[in-house]
Amino acid sequence: MRILAIETSCDETAAAVMERTDTSPWVKTITSVVASQAKLHEKYGGVYPEVASREHIRKILPVIAEALDLPLHERGRLPNFSAAGIDYLAVTVGPGLIGSLLVGTQTIASLGYATGLPILPVNHLAGHIYASFIATESVLTAPDFPLLSLVVSGGHTMLIYMKGHHQYELIGQTRDDAAGEAFDKVAKLLGLGYPGGPLVSQLARKGNRHAYKFPIGLEHEDTCDFSFSGLKTAVLREVQKAGALSEQGKADIAASFERAAIEALLLKTSRALQSRPVRHFILGGGVAANNYLRERLATLLAHKTPAVTLHVPPSHLCTDNAEVIGAAAAFSNLVPIAPSELKTYARYPLTS
Ligand code: KG4
Ligand code: ZN
Repeated sequence: MRILAIETSCDETAAAVMERTDTSPWVKTITSVVASQAKLHEKYGGVYPEVASREHIRKILPVIAEALDLPLHERGRLPNFSAAGIDYLAVTVGPGLIGSLLVGTQTIASLGYATGLPILPVNHLAGHIYASFIATESVLTAPDFPLLSLVVSGGHTMLIYMKGHHQYELIGQTRDDAAGEAFDKVAKLLGLGYPGGPLVSQLARKGNRHAYKFPIGLEHEDTCDFSFSGLKTAVLREVQKAGALSEQGKADIAASFERAAIEALLLKTSRALQSRPVRHFILGGGVAANNYLRERLATLLAHKTPAVTLHVPPSHLCTDNAEVIGAAAAFSNLVPIAPSELKTYARYPLTS
């Protein structure tokens, strides 16, 4: 079965062709194209929604054409989907920026009307989990159930328990800012640019992780929930207090912030692992590209729960792309939705 998937929920315009044979525990990438808008949004220090929608409109058809490997002279007309072996269309319907999502859903609706291909709606957060079901050369074991997943992105921080495909139990989430949002805000405070996560992380490598004692959100509360707003405010206070910061001073703040943010993620992950029987653990979302988190989580699981298999996708599958949307669709019940029924959702909780 082959799926053409597209993703436009935020500031990446992406399309991918994914393949799964019936009983395979994996899904395979045939082609994948991501057009990032990061450069366009840099000057605003974050995603500018109106600019994002307009750019998706400019990019979506060329990106799909490239994912379908169409020769240039065929790119002006409706692609021959049967020649490409496509059986389904899949699209992110939420959560995300409505204007951005609409470009994806309307494009897929038009393709659905024109070709009669069935359409599978996909939750973006499911995509971050299903990144770990994409076959890569370096991974030998596919995830299995029951599993626990930590999804850490620009808009979400969640611990999700799954007993089967697309069966979601939310066991913890952020009460205020998302982890990625905290990285982006600290990057702004330190004058580092956008997207902030990778820049803070890069700078943190040169700093002292114990230079500042920043708070670990909800450290003493008996919950699997997260909170990052206190940490962000504590960083703001230190930056204001310091005045003009040296490069080393900035690096120390970045390193101490990163440590506190990751400690919070590990603390609540640890608690969640104790609360349910777990065989596999999946890390997903943009912040999963963070090397310090990847290393610390691997160490935590190796020490505390050695029987649990950890799955961490390669970095390019942690940040937004369409492969993961196709992967989530491939493991769904394949019940299509009529083009006229496609809706978009700014908020879209994971439901079974
Ligand atoms: O999943 P994603 O690409 O988009 C959303 O669904 O939100 O996540 C983007 C977030 C941004 O906040 C970005 O700063 C963060 O992921 N991020 C990182 C790293 N790479 C991306 N945060 C920390 N360390 C990184 N290496
Ligand atoms: Zn995402």
